[in-house]
Amino acid sequence: MRALVRETTLTASDFVLPAFVEEGVNRRTEIGSMPGVSRVSVDELVRDATEAYGLGVKGLALFPALDESLKDATGRESLNPDGLLQRAIRALKREVPELLVITDVALDPYSSDGHDGLVRDGRILNDETLPLLASMAVAQAEAGADVVAPSDMMDGRVEAIREALDDEGFTDVAICSYCAKYASSFYGPFREALDSAPKSGDKKTYQMDPANRREAVREIELDEAEGADWILIKPGLPYLDVVRLAREQTHLPVAVYQVSGEFAMLKAAFRNGWLDYEACLLETLTAFKRAGADIIFTYGAVDAARLLAR
Ligand code: PBG
Repeated sequence: MRALVRETTLTASDFVLPAFVEEGVNRRTEIGSMPGVSRVSVDELVRDATEAYGLGVKGLALFPALDESLKDATGRESLNPDGLLQRAIRALKREVPELLVITDVALDPYSSDGHDGLVRDGRILNDETLPLLASMAVAQAEAGADVVAPSDMMDGRVEAIREALDDEGFTDVAICSYCAKYASSFYGPFREALDSAPKSGDKKTYQMDPANRREAVREIELDEAEGADWILIKPGLPYLDVVRLAREQTHLPVAVYQVSGEFAMLKAAFRNGWLDYEACLLETLTAFKRAGADIIFTYGAVDAARLLAR
């Protein structure tokens, strides 16, 4: 009876698995605050991706962990055709071609300032950052990315990226816009994983104030007009109202990102014997779908896919 009247059904094809890649061979470096999640070398990444795809997960969101020596003020390494991210994309498209490869467009993993945009005298230079982001997206598309996902929150970047992709012939590469991305404290474990925390200041001048909801509507309207293909809301659980708002505001697919801190909380409680990780993971993912999300980015994608296959 309950199955017949259930309103929301979760499937592995709802999930995108975020993955951290590092240099080396045969390497897995567990991230302290994210038990079960590691930075992995490209060969291990291919192994993880193959497993995820085999379980029905349809997409992988890639984040490179770069050596400090490769970081500079303009994030030049992001354009290197033989850079870590580019090699990871090519390996994935060669070995698991049907798995959607989603790449992050933002300066922070490449930036000596640890910010998503260019910094001068402590200020973020919105407009001067746009051509850099556009070139980064093209470099990712050249390596084989299927979807580029600007997470930088500069104004006008979706249009700049769309134009640059089209000019270079990448008309089929889609844009997943981190549209309502809040200046959240839940990103801590992610910044530990990539060693990408801002060297000074914070991200509050470009990421959104957690207190704002109407502003999310403005961001959705702008990104949609600029050519976004998907709209992403982030973090997830503390912003379910914004996911619902997005669902009602746009006909585009709505994605949600269950971020590192949310995942860390689940795992920490589980490790203490305070929560049932598997049940709580599936409950949170069901909540995202019930709120209106079509696509769910979660570090628990493989665990959840395995549970759903039981
Ligand atoms: C950076 C980026 C961040 C995340 C995804 N892309 C961190 C930040 O904005 O500082 C966070 C993801 C997570 O916490 O899981 N452009």
